[in-house]
Formats: sequence, C-alpha cells, structure tokens
Amino acid sequence: MALVFVVDDDPVTGEAIAAALAREGHELRVFSAPGDVLAAAREAEPAVAITDFAMPGMNGLELIRALRELSPDTTFLVVSGQATVEDAVALMKEGVVDVLVKPPRARALRRALALALRQHELAAENRRLRQALRDRRLLENVVGASPAFAEVLRQVEQVAATPATVLLTGETGTGKEVIAEAIHELSPRAERRLVKVHCAAIPETLLESELFGHARGAFTGAVREKPGLVEVADGGTLFLDEVGEIPLDIQAKLLRVLQEGEVQRIGETAPRKVDVRVVAATNRDLEVEVREGRFREDLWYRINVIPIHLPPLRQRGDDVLLLARHFLEQETARLGRTDLEGFTPEALEALRAYAWPGNVRELQNAIARAAALAPGPLVREEDLPDRVRGRTTEGQRLVLPEDMTLEEMERLMILHALEVTGGKKKEAAARLGISLATLYRKLDRYQRGDT
Ligand SMILES: Nc1ncnc2c1ncn2[C@@H]1O[C@H](COP(=O)(O)OP(=O)(O)OP(=O)(O)O)[C@@H](O)[C@H]1O
Ligand SMILES: [Mg+2]
Repeated sequence: MALVFVVDDDPVTGEAIAAALAREGHELRVFSAPGDVLAAAREAEPAVAITDFAMPGMNGLELIRALRELSPDTTFLVVSGQATVEDAVALMKEGVVDVLVKPPRARALRRALALALRQHELAAENRRLRQALRDRRLLENVVGASPAFAEVLRQVEQVAATPATVLLTGETGTGKEVIAEAIHELSPRAERRLVKVHCAAIPETLLESELFGHARGAFTGAVREKPGLVEVADGGTLFLDEVGEIPLDIQAKLLRVLQEGEVQRIGETAPRKVDVRVVAATNRDLEVEVREGRFREDLWYRINVIPIHLPPLRQRGDDVLLLARHFLEQETARLGRTDLEGFTPEALEALRAYAWPGNVRELQNAIARAAALAPGPLVREEDLPDRVRGRTTEGQRLVLPEDMTLEEMERLMILHALEVTGGKKKEAAARLGISLATLYRKLDRYQRGDT
C-alpha cells in the first residue's frame, strides 16, 4: 500500500479524484491548502502526489519544488483545468510523470497513478543502490572479514546513523582512528567536519584553550579571540583520541559539552550552544582510571554510551592475509612496482603465525618494508622483519629467550592461552591440558603477585 497525496484548492475536486482511486488499495490523503501538504510530507513521505496546477498562494510547480526538497523520491501527477501546452512541457521537465486535463476520467487517472507508482519505486530503488554503493566505497579501505571484525563493522553501521557518543577501545594499531572516520563518513554529519583532537599530543597547558577556545586577553598571549575545536566541530563530529589522557579539571568542562551541549570559552561568561557528536578512543582501561580517581565517573558514563571494542589482529584469523594483500597493493602502487605480485606460501605462513603486538600498524609497516626490499615477483619470508620470522615452518621451532625460568614460561603460556581464547578459562585450561581448578589456582597466585 502506497501513500498518495491529492491536492486541490477545491475540496470537491480533490475528493472526486480520491474517489476515483479509492479501490486501488492505497492510502489516500486529500488536501486543499499547500501548507498542509508540506506539513504532512514532513511526517511521512508520499510515493505520489497528484496536484492541481492553479492554486491560490502556491501554484502546482512551486508546490512540486517544495515537496521535492522534503521528499526526494515522490513522483508527481498534475491535474489542471488551465495548463497550457507550454506549462505541460515545463512540468514534464520538472519530472512530472503526466499532466491530466480536468475533470480527469477515472481510467486515465488510474493508469497515470500506476505509472507514477512504478517511477517512484525506481527512484527509491535507485537511491538505495546509490547509498549502498557509497557506503561500500567508504568502507573499501577498511579491510577485514573475520567474524570478530564483521561484528565491529555491524556496530559501526548501526551507530553511524545516530548522534550517540561512541567509545572505541582496543590495543595500539587496531584501527580506532580508521573506525572513527568510518562512523563519521557513514553518518548524516558526513557533510560537516570531523575534527580530530589527539589529547595526548597537546601539552596540558594548551589543551583547555585548544578544546574550548578563549576570549581576547583571557590570558597572556591570547591576543585575539579564538574558537575552540569543540566549536569548530559544530554540526559535525569531534574525535577525542586518547581521551583517558585529559586532565581532571578539563574533564569537567568536557562533561558540560556532552551533558548540556554547551561550551564556554576561557575568559567568557556566557556559554555557547554546540551540536557535536563525540567519538572517543582510548587504549587505557578507563574503568581502572575511574577506580583510581584519574577519570571522572560521570564523564565515563557519558562517553561509554556505545562502546565498540576493536579486537587485536591476532584474534582476527585470516584478516592478517587480507590486510597484507591490501597493504601490498597499496605499496606497489605507490612505489610503481608492477613486478611484485604477492607472497610466497612461507611468507604467508609467517604472517599468519606471528602475534602482531603492534596490530594492523605493525603489519602495515612490515609490508611497506618488504615491498621496498623484495626483489620480486613474490615477497619471501626473508623480506619480512626478523621478529615476524621468529617461527619458521620447519618444525615450528620456538625461539626461547635464554634467561627465562620455567615459572615465567608457564605464566606466559597461560596468558597466551587466555588471550587466544578471548578470556574463556574453560577453553584455555583445555588447551593447556590442565584442569580448570589448576588454572584458577595459578591465576590466583599471579594476582597475589607471588609468582
Ligand atoms: N581494518 C583496517 N583496514 C585497513 N587499514 C587499517 C585497518 N585498521 C587499521 N588500519 C591502518 O593501520 C594503521 C593504524 O590504524 P589506526 O591509526 O586507526 O590505529 P589506532 O587504533 O588508532 O592506534 P593507536 O592506539 O596507536 O592510536 C593506520 O595506518 C590504518 O590506516
Ligand atoms: Mg590512534
């Protein structure tokens, strides 16, 4: 069932048109004032609008233009007693599907409506496809297909449409900034700015005025007034990287931005309204920061509205290989090396076996280096950094540090097992070949610190 608007300044004509279409099974709404039509279109977009041409206040053409702003997929039929051939041509140019002469015959009306509905479906489908294409293009450089990463992308698509505050967590190099960009690009704010603040990189003494701005003469050196980055991001997205590094006193002002949508420049008394969407990132555990009094609890609640955790690369399975190929293509294109075609099986195996503590960034650097070094046509294991080649294929030899005790080794193995099982103790115990009780006992001992 489609929503169809009928507009005629003469209610009798409007009702007659609706009556002729009553049995087509659509939801018909009849209007006699153009203003009412626009108000209704704001509530629900009609598939088709059938409108009179000569109306007091706003003629058919003006109404069509105004409606199209509100409802871009609506298609139009015009019913007119007076439209000249020239008018009809102008209307068709505006995308009006058909111009019918008053009083329209029921059969002609029904046929025109069917045509207009089909055009509407095409227009809507077209826009959906364009949107999907745009989304895919935006995410083209965000690589990953593992279940863990697919879940991240699903969350990104879901939150992008909302103005909700997002907190990105994850180890260094897992792609927090990449994901912050994706959230902005896929959001309705994409036309406006994404302002990035690397909180750890700005000296504490400058951070406050950078974020919130200042009045002229607010402090020595403030020779002219300056808006803060929060204001610069108005209407757009503010990316607060390393949000855990923000000192407590500045956290209070940030809370105000999130809570009231207000920012106050240093040296000014009146707050200014701002509309910013905040995406924050941290590789610290903010819960610990809160517990230890370094991060305000109320701010944490405001920032942690939608947490998205980026899994470390070692938990993303074959994404390592997808990313390696992606970075190799990027690098060969950049270096103009058409002779490099891929990796040897041994190189792929080494890439897959390594734990990547520096995550995607470390992988990217390793591939960039290999692309410069490899004689070609394939990147070999020996073109990769030494640490990546730590485990070789022959016999999977483990390289042991010389000064390690058995205790330490055991502890490392247990931590590793917990890591690869995502913290699931039962699975980790099974992997290690010990009972769950033994695992608990050992963990308990590590926690007490008497290893
Ligand atoms: N899924 C991905 N697909 C393609 N490139 C990625 C992906 N994730 C990360 N990268 C690349 O890896 C590098 C590191 O990513 P990014 O800077 O977003 O990490 P981060 O989590 O912000 O790290 P840090 O905590 O150290 O700031 C960047 O060059 C980025 O382009
Ligand atoms: Mg970062």
